Amino acid sequence: VGGPVRDLLLGRRSLDTDVVITHPAEPVIQAFVSRHNGRIQRRSQFMTYELSFPDGSRMDVATARKETYPHPAALPLVQPSELLHDLARRDFSVNAMGISLDPVHFGRLVDPLGGEMDLRTRRLRALHPHSFIDDPTRIYRAARYAGRLNLGLEGETARWITEAIHLGIIAKLTPARLGHEWQKILMENDPRGALRRLQDWGALRFLSPGWRWRPGHERVLNPRFCSSMNGNDSLSFKLMSWCRPFGAQAAHEALGHLELPSRMRREVQLGLALLEAIERRDPLTTLEAARAPEAVKHFLSRALPASLWKWVLRSRPRLSGSDLMSLGVPPGPALGRLLAALARERWEKRLRSRRDEIQYVALETEKRGQVDNPPGR
Ligand code: CTP
Repeated sequence: VGGPVRDLLLGRRSLDTDVVITHPAEPVIQAFVSRHNGRIQRRSQFMTYELSFPDGSRMDVATARKETYPHPAALPLVQPSELLHDLARRDFSVNAMGISLDPVHFGRLVDPLGGEMDLRTRRLRALHPHSFIDDPTRIYRAARYAGRLNLGLEGETARWITEAIHLGIIAKLTPARLGHEWQKILMENDPRGALRRLQDWGALRFLSPGWRWRPGHERVLNPRFCSSMNGNDSLSFKLMSWCRPFGAQAAHEALGHLELPSRMRREVQLGLALLEAIERRDPLTTLEAARAPEAVKHFLSRALPASLWKWVLRSRPRLSGSDLMSLGVPPGPALGRLLAALARERWEKRLRSRRDEIQYVALETEKRGQVDNPPGR
């Protein structure tokens, strides 16, 4: 059901397998996992099961169910139901199709809500007027699917989205749910289509009040800039690129509205702070930049003029903290000050080689020795 069926019909590769079984699902699931030496990894309050198998593959299985929303933007209450209800409770017709796996009807498309026709005519159509009020995260999902699959919004769907946005329902979502939707947008191979749409609909400001689509985003979010990165790095990189026009302080405040993984927040804040410090020509950045996480370095290398970034990397001191200790500098604040002084001297091109640095350290420690032990004492 859902995404894999949509993707199969579009000839796109689908990453997950979603299966629905009518009630009672658990005996079928138990039999299935024991036959394939798998296990039930997790059960949720929504009657869903996460299965895992010895070859590392995973599968999401759910009991066919219908949903009720106790109030707008609440998590739904679910109860077992028939397949038709399970499809009808979903967000969009293109996500409300199934393919039968039972031996008698194996391979038959189950499409009671016209999803296949909508895919053909490239329309994104919600299934009922309350869809976005019950679950405002669907506004962000709509932008993602429209952007990813290049679908147009069907007329009523567009109206329902506008109404839900004007009612301010999105503001009822928790920072955790908003953070999750935001990450899903950034996980898109090319998030620009979704972001442009959210800007047009006026839905970006619910993620953070100052966020707007800026023309510069077009270039910096081009997917070719992060094609070589792993998933987490590319997420941090895209978030830094997105936040850049708003500045480090604004990004710090914006990240307060969304619950995001702490590693991602740290990297984004470091990246933007370093960018501003390098632009101010602060020599201390040479110490930080060289040992920054990959995503931060990748961001800086894109965001700065190539010659400046090269200069930052080239002008970091050759001596490290442990080199200084082996030269006899005791650990402590004085060592930090000496490293900072080395960075400054290097930046100003007064030191050019490791040997220059060693001489500088020797001179400085000698001076310090004279201050600590003035002659005649
Ligand atoms: N769904 C929904 N409303 C939501 C979230 C999910 O109706 N707020 C339904 C949709 O039918 C969707 C299915 O649950 O197809 C699975 O959700 P998810 O895994 O988030 O989406 P996929 O369709 O698999 O799409 P993607 O390719 O983005 O993962």
